[in-house]
Amino acid sequence: MALTLFGDIYRNKKIIVTGNTGFKGSWLSAWLQNMGAQVTGFSDRIPTEPSFYVATGLDKQVNQVWGDIRDLAAVTQLIKTVKPDFVFHLAAQALVKQSLQDPLETFTVNAIGTGNLLNALKEVNHPCSVVFITSDKCYENVEWVWGYKETDRLGGKDPYSASKAAAEIIFHSFFHTYFSKQDHIRMATARAGNVIGGGDWAPDRIVPDCIRKWSVNETVNIRRPNSTRPWQHVLEPLGGYLLLGAQLASDPKKVHGESFNFGPPANQDYKVGELIMDLARYWTGTDAAKLINIDEDHSFYEAGLLKLNTDKALAMLKWQPCLNYGETMQLTGEWYDYFYKNNPDAFSLHDFSLQQVKLFLQLAADKHLQWMY
Ligand SMILES: NC(=O)c1ccc[n+]([C@@H]2O[C@H](COP(=O)([O-])OP(=O)(O)OC[C@H]3O[C@@H](n4cnc5c(N)ncnc54)[C@H](O)[C@@H]3O)[C@@H](O)[C@H]2O)c1
Repeated sequence: MALTLFGDIYRNKKIIVTGNTGFKGSWLSAWLQNMGAQVTGFSDRIPTEPSFYVATGLDKQVNQVWGDIRDLAAVTQLIKTVKPDFVFHLAAQALVKQSLQDPLETFTVNAIGTGNLLNALKEVNHPCSVVFITSDKCYENVEWVWGYKETDRLGGKDPYSASKAAAEIIFHSFFHTYFSKQDHIRMATARAGNVIGGGDWAPDRIVPDCIRKWSVNETVNIRRPNSTRPWQHVLEPLGGYLLLGAQLASDPKKVHGESFNFGPPANQDYKVGELIMDLARYWTGTDAAKLINIDEDHSFYEAGLLKLNTDKALAMLKWQPCLNYGETMQLTGEWYDYFYKNNPDAFSLHDFSLQQVKLFLQLAADKHLQWMY
């Protein structure tokens, strides 16, 4: 089953995915490979055990380069050797709790790592389109009810958020200084947040926390059941990144140097407690709803609800989110249930995951979303 999309622009292209061993990077690599791309991954390690990367056999399929995004020489060498047509930059210290334990690591990986990639791109003299993945947390969260627009102020009270704002500022500074007048290197940033989906085992994220416990028949403790978040399935922003990459390559004038929000529909805010109960419905065999314990913890600062306004992505890219909350939960719950109850080999899990991509695209087509065509 091959998926032809985005004008088939990714077929036979050399594509670097940094952070390819992580949750989003591994899904993106699988999707790109299925569209006929030649993916080179750049990561420092496999961040979790299990991982989507190993469980789906991507470790055997991707041209893997191990290295640290903070190592300018390694990043420069990567770009020189691969001569990529596209780069998707996802390598990051992506965990809020970890950023509190080691803020400097988060700043160097997320901000200096972005600077290293931008610096390496200065040497490139062939056409190359680059999507920098930052976060919705790059905005100064003023705790208002409206969605943040791309022109809103950047900021961040916690180190993770600030590191993502810093990455954005570094991007725009390099863009204006070195890249705005060039037409062979095209670049943009993508801001999304609160992604869920099968194959995430990162620590201190709500879905993986539940799955880890339920898989050994243990009770999960929930810190903040009443926290509301705009949940989004992983395939939603990935579709946005791919669309943005395709647009950079085909019509760079429109989007070169721009930033785009990729968020869920404005009404897709659900409480953590609701999300877990809905996830439990897809866990077959044991009654997962009985394996939930509410254990409120307010020991560290966590920003309030932050929503994204996605009007710019709609106007300029024709991007719109596809899945409603029920579909988001179904894809997520069914993936983990399949993984834990069927003990699939890499080939079967890879195929199952691509079937989810196919279903996602079918739903997008059924809903007549323009980015599909
Ligand atoms: N998952 C979410 O909900 C979410 C929300 C908003 C933004 N993001 C952003 O999307 C991107 C991907 O997130 P994810 O959830 O897949 O993260 P993840 O933690 O699952 O994966 C991070 C990846 O970056 C790599 N990495 C980390 N430090 C590195 C270093 N020093 N050198 C090289 N590689 C390094 C890891 O090996 C891994 O491949 C990140 O930029 C993250 O901040 C994620």
